[in-house]
Amino acid sequence: MRKLYIFDTTLRDGEQSLGITLNTHEKLEIARQLVRLGVDVIEAGFPASSPGDMNSVKTIAREIKGAVICGLTRAVAKDIDACAEALRDAEQPRIHTGIAVSPVHMEKKLRLSPEQVVEAAVAAVKHAKKYVSDVEFYAEDASRSEPAFLAKILEKVIEAGATVVNIPDTVGYVTPWQYGELISFLTKNVKNIDSAIISTHCHNDLGMATANTLAAVKAGASQVEGTINGIGERAGNTALEEVMMAVYSQPSLYGVELGVKTKEIAATSRLVSGITGVPVPSHKAIVGANAFMHASGIHQDGVLKEKRTYEIIDPETVGILRNKIVLSARSGRHALKHRLEELGYSPEQYDVETVYKEFLQLADQKKEVFDEDLHALMGYTEKERNS
Ligand code: KIV
Ligand code: ZN
Repeated sequence: MRKLYIFDTTLRDGEQSLGITLNTHEKLEIARQLVRLGVDVIEAGFPASSPGDMNSVKTIAREIKGAVICGLTRAVAKDIDACAEALRDAEQPRIHTGIAVSPVHMEKKLRLSPEQVVEAAVAAVKHAKKYVSDVEFYAEDASRSEPAFLAKILEKVIEAGATVVNIPDTVGYVTPWQYGELISFLTKNVKNIDSAIISTHCHNDLGMATANTLAAVKAGASQVEGTINGIGERAGNTALEEVMMAVYSQPSLYGVELGVKTKEIAATSRLVSGITGVPVPSHKAIVGANAFMHASGIHQDGVLKEKRTYEIIDPETVGILRNKIVLSARSGRHALKHRLEELGYSPEQYDVETVYKEFLQLADQKKEVFDEDLHALMGYTEKERNS
């Protein structure tokens, strides 16, 4: 089993979400929690982009120990110089530099020939190597590039000293089998690929970021990039908590070992949502408020008999103290009896059929029946019985 490196870019690509701006203090608070969670790499920002970002990366590099601290740059010497300056006090610094490699980006955005792009990429990696030993190269829009050209540029940047090669699906365009095949192609066609770690970087435009990331891991990628709660440009980045729990659930399927403390996932999600002001949808996998709730009678009955019937993950594994049974008009007698017992009403005290009938009448008027409603219901039925 190889180690799966977790690269968190909540503070860089996540902050690129529309409407999010984080100050240095907020970024530091998130970075501290990411270390508690046990991520391997924290991408702290893009130092050349603004004085604020420069200051945040500098502060995180100085204060945060126990993870690689990474800064993003374009394949431009002055960006790389700024990044090196920002990372000067980091215990484990990494410069993440790169350039776009798809025909549309090279022709229309960069206005460079493929040869000029290779030249700029190699020069950027060599320049970054003057400052740090750990240099990651990103091939922007790799999923829409010519695979043979992608293989060639990766070979050249690894030769120049890149230790990690990032294969972004910048616009969230590919499917899991296409992305998996691309990674597999690179493992076979980049001669020196064993000298570098292959990294995934997926966007969620078609809702496939997590699936694409996992397909790439299965095909040989050993680093995954993403954000907490999946925040990021447009439809966001890969949600790291989803990848972590998918790998945690079936490690042998992917052939990798996960080093994070999964019990910190819920706290990390809450912190990122609170600080960024981006709410987590209630149905969001792993960290949504309903992710471990059971509402229908059949499901509630199953879970009460044996959790594994409808639960693939024990909620405590991600730091949620217990699963909740929501009592509603769809709940059965078994769920009601179970909750009443938890509230101190033993079945000998009441007639199940009478209480259940009244419970259903109440539940028809409300979405959810709370404990206070049950106490009131029990008082009412007791009075009625006594009269
Ligand atoms: O989506 C992307 O291609 C990126 C790179 C800059 C790494 O965020
Ligand atoms: Zn991105």
